[in-house]
Amino acid sequence: MVIGVVGYGNMGESFARSLKGRAELLVYDTNPGRCESALKEGFGVAKDLEFLLQSSRWLLLAVKPKDAPEVLQRLRGKLKDRLLVSVVAGLSLSKMEELTGSSSLVRLMPNINALVGRATIACAFARGVQEREREEFVELFSSCGSLYTIGEELFDAFTALAGSGPAFVFKFVHALALAGLREGFSYETAKSIAVDVVLGSCELLKQKGGNPEDWLIRVASPAGTTVEGVKVLEERGFVGTLMECVRKTSERAKTLL
Ligand SMILES: NC(=O)c1ccc[n+]([C@@H]2O[C@H](COP(=O)([O-])OP(=O)(O)OC[C@H]3O[C@@H](n4cnc5c(N)ncnc54)[C@H](OP(=O)(O)O)[C@@H]3O)[C@@H](O)[C@H]2O)c1
Repeated sequence: MVIGVVGYGNMGESFARSLKGRAELLVYDTNPGRCESALKEGFGVAKDLEFLLQSSRWLLLAVKPKDAPEVLQRLRGKLKDRLLVSVVAGLSLSKMEELTGSSSLVRLMPNINALVGRATIACAFARGVQEREREEFVELFSSCGSLYTIGEELFDAFTALAGSGPAFVFKFVHALALAGLREGFSYETAKSIAVDVVLGSCELLKQKGGNPEDWLIRVASPAGTTVEGVKVLEERGFVGTLMECVRKTSERAKTLL
């Protein structure tokens, strides 16, 4: 199976690397420097979009939103039974269908964690994708991260929660690191501790299950230290602030494209 990657930037490269060994990758990028990087990585490079299209069974569109309409128009009427997979933010399935004339389409919303093969990815299929192809797609693309098949109406909310989510996590880690600095650690040591705490706590939650609140209560002993800190978070509106943060991000996502 050959997957043609249109646009070998951050996302194109991350997905191609994760799919390496499970599919044959062929790349097309208008930037000669990016083509060289693809060659160094051991991927084939197509001289033009037409060659990529002829040689591939599936296409992965990973160009910037401003460049996507032109590429889609060039693919119009030529996709035949090929599956077109897009990671372009804000580009709906109906817009893709309008521009290409095909309904064999998949819309993905990955996040920056794709750079380390740990993306959280939303996935929506257009009506033209058959059940067998859906299953094949999910099996293959699960190597790129955690796939969540959701209704397209939830994509803006997903963009806020998982697309922008890493930025909120980085803010949290930075805040913890600063708090450690204030207490006497170097910033680097405090940051390393904060990263380990976040990674370990998430691993615990993932492996053992349960709700975060159940684990909070196991950490916080009666009249102990942890609950004093939790009270401050409650008083300063930590939960409400985060909920409003995601709501505002989601509203902004709706105004794009
Ligand atoms: N980065 C993220 O964290 C993230 C997260 C979720 C979704 N996305 C989506 O992923 C897509 C790609 O983002 P990115 O950060 O990977 O972008 P990027 O690093 O800029 O990569 C895009 C690549 O495509 C090339 N290109 C431009 N026009 C082209 C064309 N007509 N045909 C073939 N190649 C072309 C660009 O070359 P030039 O540099 O010369 O223009 C560049 O090498 C975007 O639509 C974005 O919305 C990104």
